[in-house]
Amino acid sequence: MSATYEDAYTSSLSDPDAFWLEAAGAVDWIELPHTGWTEGRGWFADGTLNTCYNAVDRHVAAGRGKDIAVIYESPVAGTRQQIDFDTLLKRVSRTAGMLTNLGIGKGDRVIIYMPMIPETLFAMLACARIGAIHSVVFGGFAAPELAKRIDDAAPRALLTASCGIEGGRILPYKPLVDQAIALASHRIEHVVLLQRPQCVAELIHGRDHDWAESHDAARPAACVAIAATDPLYILYTSGTTGTPKGVVRQNGGHAVALAWSMRHIYGTQAGDTFWAASDVGWVVGHSYIVYGPLIAGCTTLLFEGKPVGTPDAGTFWRTITKHQVDIFFTAPTAIRAIRKEDPGGRFIQDIGTGRLRAMYLAGERADPDTLIWAERQLDIPVIDHWWQTELGWPAVATCLGLGDTRRRAGSAGFPVPGFRFAVLGDDGEPVEAGASGHIVVATPLPPGCYSSLWNNADGYLRAFQSFAGDYESGDAGHIDTDGFVHIMGRTDDIINVAGHRLSTGQIEQIIAKHPAIAECAVIGADDRLKGMIPLALAVVKSGVIAGEELPGEIISLVRQELGPVAALKQAILVSALPKTRSGKILRAAIRGLANGKDVVMSPTIENPEALAEIAAALQARRNPEFS
Ligand code: COA
Ligand code: AMP
Repeated sequence: MSATYEDAYTSSLSDPDAFWLEAAGAVDWIELPHTGWTEGRGWFADGTLNTCYNAVDRHVAAGRGKDIAVIYESPVAGTRQQIDFDTLLKRVSRTAGMLTNLGIGKGDRVIIYMPMIPETLFAMLACARIGAIHSVVFGGFAAPELAKRIDDAAPRALLTASCGIEGGRILPYKPLVDQAIALASHRIEHVVLLQRPQCVAELIHGRDHDWAESHDAARPAACVAIAATDPLYILYTSGTTGTPKGVVRQNGGHAVALAWSMRHIYGTQAGDTFWAASDVGWVVGHSYIVYGPLIAGCTTLLFEGKPVGTPDAGTFWRTITKHQVDIFFTAPTAIRAIRKEDPGGRFIQDIGTGRLRAMYLAGERADPDTLIWAERQLDIPVIDHWWQTELGWPAVATCLGLGDTRRRAGSAGFPVPGFRFAVLGDDGEPVEAGASGHIVVATPLPPGCYSSLWNNADGYLRAFQSFAGDYESGDAGHIDTDGFVHIMGRTDDIINVAGHRLSTGQIEQIIAKHPAIAECAVIGADDRLKGMIPLALAVVKSGVIAGEELPGEIISLVRQELGPVAALKQAILVSALPKTRSGKILRAAIRGLANGKDVVMSPTIENPEALAEIAAALQARRNPEFS
């Protein structure tokens, strides 16, 4: 493998097949692949492997069974566990046996709706072991969202726990799971529920199984051979409609890309401790809590808590020093939350950061102010890097593992080997260096990127249609004259709230269901803590007298339908929405107003008075949190 970033980048583009076949040597194969990319099939189409074997068994086979694979640190449950590779193998293969006892096998889908506990990792790896396709659903989604995923993935089983713990609150999962199953048209055969000590759930006879009993009754299941192009998982993410997109990840490319990234982006080696303070419900959790670190033979840290309040803004640094974390990964929001509580960095000074070598940030743009603050406090490289659920691993980064250290606040770094970027204007032509445009990536995308959308072939193809076959990321940005890539925001209606990806269009569809609402617009308003927060503007149907409770009802409706993760806290009633003469809602102008910008009244506006009304309403309610 090439030694420098430049060498690696050049060879990854000049002969991608050779580059990635060489990288495939970091993975143990049942049938070694001899082909790189095959159009219509994916990467390493003639290879077979087992992802779970690569994450677990091979480390035991290499004599590392007593090394720690997983550290579970839960300030909210008051629990800490260290799980070595021997134990991980036992637990995962038993969990796999529990699934095979239910008749689940290769190609069957399994939904995992679980909190940040070790059994969630065991469940994901158990699916990978037997070739079942897992689909993890983030705990902050409400029952209707879970139901949509059940109907789309058509799983045979749903794995859950009796509760999650959010800060100091116990959140029972079972009522929500039962409601989702009732809402879904697809019939789930089996629910397996892990009873946590904090909350006991009632089981439905005939459908529900107790996890502990089923696990203990099961015999360990062996790894099965999986084609490299077979799906490992489906992960739903927000698209531009109310229907989430089921991103499909293939086994082979995923294992190769993650193994490569652990070494060459993050600069880790077997035995290092890697902590991604995310959630297994997001792609970061899939790639860098579960699969990446374990495939690389690292110790992964599973943290059930928040950056602040569990118990305080020192919890990250305490965890990092206690467990000797080498590389840490979190979202800028988390750092902003810590900074808000501890602006002078007292906790960092008192606790230190142990042997931490670098902190990586992703999930939203790292604003320079936060990044510079963190770097000053921590005195180690703080690195913004960019990726998406679709891509599965970082596409723009500073590759510490390739010896690169170049960083520029406000930029996510340089294209990662394998990714050829262009910045295009609306006309599809490249813009000048430094000018803003659509961020696109040349195809074929490197290993690890999505290979399709579940049940949505057209949706997948659409991402490659607007720019002559290039992948349209949906992000806008620029590449500066030194080659740094700056990702500035979305070109569609997706917003990032506290690093969580949401669709404003989807929130609008939910609000439109309220019987009193004629139409609405939801925009992402800048927020000092969460980066963005949704803000709803709604017009009441003529003849309806809106009571004082209506904004609250709108907020609750979104919470019930989408989930608390939507974080909608403001709904403003207005008499009209500003529109163009052709009837298009002027969302960009509303966003400008919400963010305190001057909005130019263009002659194409049909009803300028509507903008003026919104400006006045926003002024009256201006939240000090808005920047
Ligand atoms: N299960 C159930 N509810 C959840 C949840 C989960 N897994 N995650 C979040 N929620 C709930 C929260 O409790 C909150 O509910 P509330 O409105 O009743 O208070 C709501 O969803 C919004 O959550 P969030 O936006 O995360 O706000 P917060 O105030 O709870 O926390 C931060 C703020 C900044 C501490 C938190 O957002 C954070 O740590 N962000 C980093 C996110 C991250 O790592 N993203 C992954 C991308 S790398
Ligand atoms: P998700 O699919 O949930 O990982 O969200 C992906 C989206 O988050 C991207 O399309 C970007 O809009 C945003 N994003 C993630 N990381 C970054 C980053 N480092 N800089 C800017 N935007 C980011």
